Amino acid sequence: MIETVRVNVAGAPHEVRIGPGLIGQAGDALVPLLARHRVAVLTDEHVAELWLPAFEAALGAAGIEVDALALPPGEATKSWPWVERTCSWLLDTGVERGDLVVTLGGGVIGDLGGFCAAILRRGVRYVQVPTTLLAQVDSAVGGKTGIDTTQGKNLIGAFHQPALVLADTATLATLPVRELRAGYAEVVKMAALGDAGFFDWLEEDGDDLLDLGPASVAHAVRAAVRMKADIVGRDEREGGERALLNLGHTFAHALETGAGYSGDLLHGEAVAIGLGLAADLSVRLGHCDAAVPARLRAHLRASGLPAALSDMQAHLPDTDGLIDLMRQDKKAVAGRLRFVLLRGIGAAFVSADVPEDALRAVLEAAGDRG
Ligand code: NAD
Ligand code: GLY
Repeated sequence: MIETVRVNVAGAPHEVRIGPGLIGQAGDALVPLLARHRVAVLTDEHVAELWLPAFEAALGAAGIEVDALALPPGEATKSWPWVERTCSWLLDTGVERGDLVVTLGGGVIGDLGGFCAAILRRGVRYVQVPTTLLAQVDSAVGGKTGIDTTQGKNLIGAFHQPALVLADTATLATLPVRELRAGYAEVVKMAALGDAGFFDWLEEDGDDLLDLGPASVAHAVRAAVRMKADIVGRDEREGGERALLNLGHTFAHALETGAGYSGDLLHGEAVAIGLGLAADLSVRLGHCDAAVPARLRAHLRASGLPAALSDMQAHLPDTDGLIDLMRQDKKAVAGRLRFVLLRGIGAAFVSADVPEDALRAVLEAAGDRG
């Protein structure tokens, strides 16, 4: 069964379709969007092997010609050199302003490919076909595109809404379990920031979701996409409420940058650790009690995710180094850091009032790596 969620962003409203088998129906879905029967597909080498043939076949059946570029998998591809190569390839294949680019893959391909689409010929339309849990519940929705640099995550980018999102939940069957769990961290984030009932459901049924029970997958992807679409519809450019979607991310981005965007620490794993640290900071500042980080960490660990600095393998900068990395956070205003904090599970808010000594104390306590 296919569900449709509308993302009502001004000037670029579009649908997110969710369900198994959408890749097989992609030709019919894309034809109405095409000026000519030709698309450029950006993917990565893992996804190209597993899902590109079915995608090409579906488009071929609708008479659509496909040019495809498979990039190296992994976070390091979300970087300047690959923007240059991808844009050159798109120009070489003759992509015109009226054409459509398709991103078939996880958040790396969606963010990089969406950014290339945003800047190519000052903007071409693109369709997201997310194939990871993370991309289906989060990154393919909302139009944030971009790349990482040594200074920090996602610091170069553009808001560029897709024309359509096709979240084929059947693709999750080939996802390695570590990647599935990393995506689950963003599901936990959505629940933790704004829906206590959803968090209760995850504690009850999250196992079934991670076992890819079809009803649980459908429920969780739909719930997360609805939440995100609602928030993005109200605040596309992150003037306020959208920042809540960054719960745990000021920490997570510093950890990922500190770890050098290596496969030792996946984005979702960094988010899981970041959620615990954001909850610790909330406790230290008196916004919630210690049961909140305890409950969050218990669930993350039960789901096979790292939930504390001590759970991670990657080599990290010291506390000062991490705080320096956090200063690059896009939420900072006039040099002051802003954090998404918790009053409880499901009740996040943005605070500009976080003394550096509280942040330092949280990181140092976590440095005991407990
Ligand atoms: P990813 O794109 O690196 O994919 C993870 C791995 O899974 C890769 O090795 C990929 O080849 C493989 N893979 C993808 N689909 C597969 C499938 N169906 N079967 C088997 N293997 C498959 O990582 P990700 O976790 O999807 O995305 C992480 C990125 O998303 C980060 O860069 C993060 O910053 C970004 N992100 C962006 C937003 C946003 O709003 N734009 C939100 C959250 C995260
Ligand atoms: N992942 C954060 C956002 O889309 O705003």
